Amino acid sequence: MAILAVENLHRRFGGLHAVNDVSFQVAAGQIKAVIGPNGAGKTTLFNLLSGALMPSSGVVRFQGKDIQGRRPFEIAALGMARTYQNIKMFTGMTALENVMVGCHLRGRAGFFSSMLHAPWTWGEERAVLEKSMELLELLEIGECAHVLATSLAFGQQRAVELARALAMQPSLLLLDEPAAGLNIYETAEVGRLISKIRDMGITVLLVEHDMSLVMDISDEIVVLCFGEMIAEDLPAAIQKNPEVIRIYLGE
Ligand SMILES: Nc1ncnc2c1ncn2[C@@H]1O[C@H](COP(=O)(O)OP(=O)(O)O)[C@@H](O)[C@H]1O
Ligand SMILES: [Mg+2]
Repeated sequence: MAILAVENLHRRFGGLHAVNDVSFQVAAGQIKAVIGPNGAGKTTLFNLLSGALMPSSGVVRFQGKDIQGRRPFEIAALGMARTYQNIKMFTGMTALENVMVGCHLRGRAGFFSSMLHAPWTWGEERAVLEKSMELLELLEIGECAHVLATSLAFGQQRAVELARALAMQPSLLLLDEPAAGLNIYETAEVGRLISKIRDMGITVLLVEHDMSLVMDISDEIVVLCFGEMIAEDLPAAIQKNPEVIRIYLGE
């Protein structure tokens, strides 16, 4: 069953068709990748899915509900979490506190009341702490829990970011270039973590530049070029697709 369906999605910026009539589906439980050269419309697509941008036209259906045009917090509450192309750690907070913020975004007490330490949040605090610690351990950075997030290595910050996204208990996780800025060892590590997240039953849609990572972990790949979807196939078929090769190698 498709957890996400994108139908004839369009986003214009003035005369530029950043996302041009794109349609595809993401099956529950799979890792699907969106690739394409710089400016292909990948980040714009993610912004349309997560509610950061309004589509010019088209449908985004998440778990059977039409969500295009809804606000980011509503979409997040329905179970879609995302990470960003540039790592965004909360400064002055430890890795653990960064993940706790993710829990509060989902939890009953709410982000603002918990930041203000309102009395009605005290009971929840301990559960949130335990849950956040569990997530850091799951992502194999439990030993970094009490370190300032911004002083961790980039690969570790990525893992904190993944833990924080998981704290929102998503059924679908959108990852925008999870390997950006990472060395080859950290990239392989992040790939392993993403597969682990999928094995927990969370569907993953990722945008990624690193072809070896994409080919390694994806079940299916969508290729965008100048806003248009030019291919959708299994990794092995994408690697042999003449149009994809032409785009990536130039002619
Ligand atoms: N807010 C914006 N205003 C105007 N043009 C934009 C905006 N965001 C993206 N674009 C343009 O849309 C196209 C797709 O950009 P983007 O989605 O960032 O591509 P990618 O993530 O694949 O590199 C690019 O030509 C970019 O310049
Ligand atoms: Mg981008």
